Amino acid sequence: MTYIVNDKCIKCKYTDCVEVCPVDCFYEGANMLVIKPDECIDCGVCEPECPVDAILPDTLLKDPNDKAYWIEFNKKYAEQWPNIVRRKPALDDADSWKTVPDKMKHFDENPGS
Ligand code: SF4
Ligand code: F3S
Repeated sequence: MTYIVNDKCIKCKYTDCVEVCPVDCFYEGANMLVIKPDECIDCGVCEPECPVDAILPDTLLKDPNDKAYWIEFNKKYAEQWPNIVRRKPALDDADSWKTVPDKMKHFDENPGS
């Protein structure tokens, strides 16, 4: 198993998760983070830290297509984006994006650092 970051992180990027990860397996894009599945040790400490509940264990994704999609999404971008190991300020307007649905429309692939 692994933990994954989903689209709720988009346009928020609070980075509270980064500070607690014992193996530094978060990677940073322009408007969201992902977890590298091969590095995550499934400790679970990041999950409650996220203010928008964007982190969850893949075991909670019951739809096999949904599960495969998010694992592959995290794996793909973790290989392209830089590692992030320190908390930083959330994105501008993060609070106003907290409850926006269907955030994949606002996904930006470009690294943000
Ligand atoms: Fe890091 Fe643990 Fe979260 Fe995996 S579950 S990303 S190892 S804090
Ligand atoms: Fe994103 Fe939540 Fe971390 S908004 S950066 S997954 S704390």
